[in-house]
Amino acid sequence: MAGIEIRGLTKSYKMESGTLQVLRGIELTLPEGEITVVLGKSGCGKTTLLRLVGGLEEPENGEIRFPGEQKTAFVFQEPRLMPWLNVRDNIEFGQKKNQRNREDTARIIHTVGLDGFEKSKPHQLSGGMQQRTALARALAYRPSFIMMDEPFAALDHFTRESMQQELLRVRRETDASILFVTHSIDEALTLADRIILISEGVVSAEYRLPQKQPRDILCDELIAVRRAIVSALEKPNDSTPV
Ligand SMILES: Nc1ncnc2c1ncn2[C@@H]1O[C@H](COP(=O)(O)OP(=O)(O)OP(=O)(O)O)[C@@H](O)[C@H]1O
Ligand SMILES: [Mg+2]
Repeated sequence: MAGIEIRGLTKSYKMESGTLQVLRGIELTLPEGEITVVLGKSGCGKTTLLRLVGGLEEPENGEIRFPGEQKTAFVFQEPRLMPWLNVRDNIEFGQKKNQRNREDTARIIHTVGLDGFEKSKPHQLSGGMQQRTALARALAYRPSFIMMDEPFAALDHFTRESMQQELLRVRRETDASILFVTHSIDEALTLADRIILISEGVVSAEYRLPQKQPRDILCDELIAVRRAIVSALEKPNDSTPV
């Protein structure tokens, strides 16, 4: 199966106290149609990895190979909406004018629970509603590659669950490759085809999950995966400047 290949990716930042080596050689393939979830401690380099893969920053070494032309959508840790555009126009932002489809937009607005707020501007929305608008914008673009950086962290439990289900629907219905960063082990167990851990700048562990959906994350098999992840993440912190 075709996929996005990340080989030997390294990145460091210069700091007053020295050089901070964040990524030390990431090796990762993102298969088409799969959700790859990245877990790792705060500061381990998850957002940096996404920024490199998304072309927002240049790697030092290594390469990222795409199997063909990609339509890439990003959902960041914060919504990044256009403050002067309303919800509907934000969602359609990025689509070519002739590809905009009001019915599609209305369906997506309904899916993310924003019916009635089409004409609201971002400052009239709560943080979670802004984040749902950002998610809707990404989905409306019909991407072949979606990068998501803790996209649901600001949402309440039930809204988060329904957004996760929406993402799984996208996973079923498209061939999009999805690279998803989260701090939540539960979320990773719910969504992932594969979970990868980043520690000390490399992929330190990898877990393939059963294909069956919906999942019972309290079943014995997934509890065992959770134990393994917790013990791998418990190791001492790694991002000290050298
Ligand atoms: N532009 C930058 N300049 C200098 N240092 C940076 C820059 N961007 C990130 N870093 C450093 O790189 C490290 C990794 O940051 P990154 O944002 O990738 O972490 P993260 O894993 O996404 O953390 P979190 O889970 O808290 O979002 C941090 O120590 C951070 O201080
Ligand atoms: Mg981050």
